[in-house]
Amino acid sequence: MGSETHYGAGARAFHWLTVALLLVIMPIGLVMGRLPRGLLQDTLFVTHESLGLSVLALTLLRLFWRLAHPAPAPDADLAPLERRASRSVHAALYLVLLVTPLTGYLFVSFRGIALHYFGLVEVPELVAKDKPLSNLALFVHTSLQWAIYALAALHVAAALHHHFVRRNGVLRRMLPSLARR
Ligand code: HEM
Ligand code: HEM
Repeated sequence: MGSETHYGAGARAFHWLTVALLLVIMPIGLVMGRLPRGLLQDTLFVTHESLGLSVLALTLLRLFWRLAHPAPAPDADLAPLERRASRSVHAALYLVLLVTPLTGYLFVSFRGIALHYFGLVEVPELVAKDKPLSNLALFVHTSLQWAIYALAALHVAAALHHHFVRRNGVLRRMLPSLARR
């Protein structure tokens, strides 16, 4: 359960699972296109795409979860401007967590590439084949990584600043309950 001062177990699980998935998805995304064709490349593509679709599903689920389990009120140590800044960064992070996998999915669909979730279940095509639109989707998909780097850097720097410089409880709100004691 959450409280007025920290995120609940569900919100924390969504948060850290998403971070862990990104740490796998992004390096794979960066190397897979540069490998020679073959089994390794195919496996990495399927893994990147399937984990990416998992992030899309997880983020949609997370936003529904958040409606039923609202976030705690901002930490009392935050000035009004900081509250607004953190709310905007969180909203932008949610946006990239939705649009990045969606544009990856659109790219694959516009190219007419068959997509199987971990090689097990066929994922339906979203759209009809269209080469120019597939190029646009790929451009947006690969460009969004820079938004992720910038937003995540800002977000992590703020969390560390709060913890180590301001020494307030902001980081602890998202940590496992054991680490909060
Ligand atoms: C949160 C989810 C995702 C993230 C953060 C992500 C991130 C990335 C990154 C960083 C790259 C490398 C771009 C570059 O070479 O500069 C990439 C490439 C790619 N991604 Fe994703 N991706 C995600 C989800 C997906 C999904 C769901 C699909 C498809 C269903 C997908 C398909 C692709 C494809 C086809 C490439 C191009 C590989 C190439 O030709 O080099 N991605 N992605
Ligand atoms: C080591 C890395 C990270 C740390 C230490 C961290 C820490 C935190 C903390 C302390 C909060 C709560 C902030 C508050 O109480 O106002 C939070 C919220 C959040 N984090 Fe992170 N974070 C990390 C990485 C990420 C990444 C990579 C993403 C997404 C790409 C992300 C997305 C979010 C979102 C969307 C929220 C808002 C939750 C909500 O209110 O629904 N975080 N994070």
